[in-house]
Amino acid sequence: MIEIQEILYDEPAIQAKVKELAAQIARDYAGKDLVLICILKGAVMFMADLMRRIPFPVTIDFIRVSSYGMSTTAAREIGVKKDIEIDVRGRHVLLVDTIIDTGETLALLFKRFPEKGPASLEAVVLLDKKPRRTAEVRVKYRGFEIPDLFVVGYGVDCAEQYRNLPYVAAIKTDT
Ligand code: IMP
Ligand code: MG
Repeated sequence: MIEIQEILYDEPAIQAKVKELAAQIARDYAGKDLVLICILKGAVMFMADLMRRIPFPVTIDFIRVSSYGMSTTAAREIGVKKDIEIDVRGRHVLLVDTIIDTGETLALLFKRFPEKGPASLEAVVLLDKKPRRTAEVRVKYRGFEIPDLFVVGYGVDCAEQYRNLPYVAAIKTDT
């Protein structure tokens, strides 16, 4: 069992922010062929809420990135475990993730996607753990900036649990 230390963002706070991000995205991509790419598994809830607030037809797909080794160190190997299945050539791609930490995951996708020939490539994240960034990555839309805390909920896990919490909470780590 883990101990919830503090609820950082409750459901109303998250939904208000999602609404705000969706409004920016809707404005920027109006009249464009938008493809939302959900980065599994953590972005599943954010994606579901965000896409519902975009008032024009969008296409969605999923990608799964695996990372081996310690998530807290730079000694980590990241690879694409399940790639997208649709053709994004000439279309506007928006990568959707709930949390960006070191930035290595998104950096890999920014490196890999251009070969698929999208018309544009951007990212949206709900939570930005900026103090831990090691990779330079362009995040056009961001929700909340958070300090270096380990968080769970709203899709984000600790050992594959707590993804179903409807809020984002910081947990106690005994390190
Ligand atoms: P990055 O490649 O370091 O930016 O890591 C991004 C991924 O690390 C996220 O999609 C999460 O799966 C995981 N992650 C980063 N910070 C946390 C956290 O505080 N709690 C749980 N998972 C996290
Ligand atoms: Mg995880």
